[in-house]
Amino acid sequence: MPRVTFLHPEGKSGEVSEGLSLLEVAEKLGFPLNHDCGGNASCTTCRVDVIAGEENLSDIDFDEQDLLDREALTESYHRLGCQARVLGDVIVQVPEEKFGESEVEKSA
Ligand code: FES
Repeated sequence: MPRVTFLHPEGKSGEVSEGLSLLEVAEKLGFPLNHDCGGNASCTTCRVDVIAGEENLSDIDFDEQDLLDREALTESYHRLGCQARVLGDVIVQVPEEKFGESEVEKSA
């Protein structure tokens, strides 16, 4: 089973079933990766930077590439957690400024 690691001060790591999206993996591991649009490739709050294992993620499809381009997230390590599916071991960095924004906004 692939091992997925979310690098973050409150990060998580664990083995998961192949084929899950990074967002689904985060939910299984108890890591609250933001997903403001509900995983519909329209918000980028689930964005991660792939540190290792880029080749172990599913290819970028049209919807993911279109949104990344529109948000100027054009480096090859930029991926949307809700769209990238895990095929092998992966390590991703979660931008700290993205983490927990939704919870903060809800309680503000
Ligand atoms: S959850 Fe909105 S783009 Fe992934």
